[in-house]
Parts: sequence; structure tokens; C-alpha cells
Amino acid sequence: MKIGFISDVHGNLEALETSLNLLGKESLESIFCAGDIVGYGPNPEECVNIITKNNIKTVMGNHDYAVNDAQFDEYFNTVAREAIIWTREHLSIHATDILKSLPLSTTLEGVTIFHGFLNEKSPFRYILSIADAIDCFKNLNTQIGVFGHSHVAGCFVHKPDGGVEYISGQNSLTLKVSHEFKYLINVGSVGQPRDRNPAGACAILDTDTMIIRILRFNYDIKSVYKKIMERGLPPFLAERLLSGY
Ligand SMILES: [Fe+2]
Repeated sequence: MKIGFISDVHGNLEALETSLNLLGKESLESIFCAGDIVGYGPNPEECVNIITKNNIKTVMGNHDYAVNDAQFDEYFNTVAREAIIWTREHLSIHATDILKSLPLSTTLEGVTIFHGFLNEKSPFRYILSIADAIDCFKNLNTQIGVFGHSHVAGCFVHKPDGGVEYISGQNSLTLKVSHEFKYLINVGSVGQPRDRNPAGACAILDTDTMIIRILRFNYDIKSVYKKIMERGLPPFLAERLLSGY
């Protein structure tokens, strides 16, 4: 069976639609989202509706959480804070309630899906380094963990000798899963990549062949850029879509 993964859509409707069209070409059993449906982008309501309509099981990202907790704003930088205030003002009660109901993690056979980190006390810690990954592997009870949060696509591989290797997903990636190893896969960001590649990212796991693919796709960045500027969101959020950083 094939399972699709998306993450960090961040209210980018054009990127979300493109990713789902791409994943739709494969015979997928289901699609999961590793959090942050909203925040930063100009179409949060539409993205929540599409995720819901397509039965995409989603875990809670820090921006999804912040929609329902203004006290969380202090953890954001100025741009993120401005954007989450805008997002709160532009979401329906229905969409807000959906975001509130998201779990911190979910598990299917052999795969744990979470947003930032596998720790209930600090679920939004980042995995940015080998040391962070080693810490997170300690709490991974399945062979594969799928996450997002940093918007940097790639894979940490835990070897039986305790060593951890990092493989970048900056330009797409195909990886055969070995039964001896454990994996933490950052599926990258659909709607706001930060790994110096402006192309969106998503992933597919084939549980029959045990092959993981991280896919990169181009989408209509210009339309999203225009909407961010027109709707009064911080211009930096438009600019970074062009640079992918
Ligand atoms: Fe995010």
C-alpha cells in the first residue's frame, strides 16, 4: 500500500492543490499531514476545508495550536506573530474548532506522524541536527517517524551501531528502507519551503517495496505572492516563497 504525506501547508492554497494533484496520480491508500495547515499564507480557511474534505489525517502544528491560544504568540517572531493574528481573524469558528481537535501525533502500522518532536512536554522542539535526531529516536516506538516543522526536507537514518546519518531531500529523494535501520523523515513543506529550493515538497511511502520518495513540485508562486501582498500579510512572507529560504 502507498501512503502520501504532506506538511506545513501554511495557508498556501495553490501549493496544496498542486501537491494533492501530484499525489492523486498515485494509487494512495491515504494521505497524512504532519501539521501547520495554517499560519503565514493567505488561504487558511480554504486549506482547512480541503484537508477535511479529502479526509487527510492531520496532527497539530504550532501554528494550528496558536490559532486557539493567543498566549502562544510570544513564542513567535514578529512576522509569524503578525501572520497568526491575521489568520485568527480570517478563520471561521468551524475551522478553528477543527484545528483545536488535532492530536499531537498519530500512528499507523510502523509509522508515527508528528509535527516537531516526540515529547509531550516539548512537541514543538525542532529536529535540526544529528544530536536533535538522536534525542528524538529515543522516543520513536515505530521504525519510521514522519514530521515537518523546520520546512527542510530530508531523512535521518539511525544505524544499529547508534550512528545517525542525514540525507538531504532538497532536490527530491528516493530511499529504500532497511529493516535494520530506523528513520526520521522530514517531508518538507508544501507551502513555505526553507531549504533553498522554492519548490514545494511532499512524500510517498510504499509499504510493499518499503521505498520512500520525497517529491518536489513547482506551483504558481506568483499568485500566492500577489495575495500575500494584497491581503496585508508581511511582505517577507511573499519574498521567501521566491527564494525558498
Ligand atoms: Fe511550519
